[in-house]
Amino acid sequence: RGPVRVAVLGCGVVGTQVVRLLTQQRDDLAARVGAPLEIVGVAVRDVTAPRAGVDPALLTTDAEALVARADLVIEVIGGLEPARSLILRAIAAGASVVTANKALLAADGPTLYAAAEAAGVDLYFEAAVAGAIPLVRPVRESLAGDRILRVLGIVNGTTNYVLDQMATEGLDLSTAVAQAQQLGFAEADPTADVEGFDAAAKAAILASLAFHTRVPLELVHREGIAAITADDVAWAARTGHVVKLLAIAERTDEGVSARVHPALVPASHPLAGVHGAFNAVFVEAEAAGELMFYGRGAGGAPTASAVLGDVVSAARHRVHGGLGPVESTYADLPVLPASAA
Ligand code: HSE
Repeated sequence: RGPVRVAVLGCGVVGTQVVRLLTQQRDDLAARVGAPLEIVGVAVRDVTAPRAGVDPALLTTDAEALVARADLVIEVIGGLEPARSLILRAIAAGASVVTANKALLAADGPTLYAAAEAAGVDLYFEAAVAGAIPLVRPVRESLAGDRILRVLGIVNGTTNYVLDQMATEGLDLSTAVAQAQQLGFAEADPTADVEGFDAAAKAAILASLAFHTRVPLELVHREGIAAITADDVAWAARTGHVVKLLAIAERTDEGVSARVHPALVPASHPLAGVHGAFNAVFVEAEAAGELMFYGRGAGGAPTASAVLGDVVSAARHRVHGGLGPVESTYADLPVLPASAA
């Protein structure tokens, strides 16, 4: 089979890791998809900026021309523009799209979903919510036969890291935010994390998927952690609590509501044990009961993992017109005899 031509838009913390995985896992990915994935280019603003592990020959500033040459477009630029225009251009050209862009999906998801549906192409966005944790697909697909009642949890790694550092190391908020930036967890503008915009975007996306409706970002109540002091965190600890920034979306008798705000979580609750940039989300559904999703919610490699999963799904769909090879017919690893070790 001919290769699936892949364009990567953006080469920051996530994009670099996406390119690294596409390159390093080339053979495995080809086997899983049933055709090679060929990176045709990586669109960036400045081709001279150093990017470890990315072949400079792939870099281009002409994102539009790159999109025109691709079967599958990975958008990891973030923000509204030019991401939105490039995704719409890709969809119009019949390319499959994988995006990690929560801000764009929360602001204008329905436009993109409608465009993809009209063009008959895939638009996948597992990486937009909770980094590496499979959450979009379970809510969208695995629980599609159930009735979701509530989604509740920690969906912003940066603020979780910051609150955790304040509690365990006694750091002040701005020092902890600077650390989160250095570690590649924070948004380009970390006020998006601190003020709860990032979590609110994810809450809007999750609520829309969970309740099969459109939850506009403006209707998500939002309160961030900017006003939380080291004293607040210490006081919470003395009373047996941990301060967490929670996102909560629920179905009520009147309709659907979504909110983001700091909350006092009892130290015995599983959410209190979520440290660093990890995320944890409870999904409560009528028949399934309560499910918990936990893992790395931010950072280049974890987010790239979710992107690559979507890339494999979308590429398989293009190649096979369905999910493609689900059996491990390509695996040649020896299976060891049963043992207790
Ligand atoms: N800034 C985001 C976070 C990145 O800290 O969770 C992942 O969406």
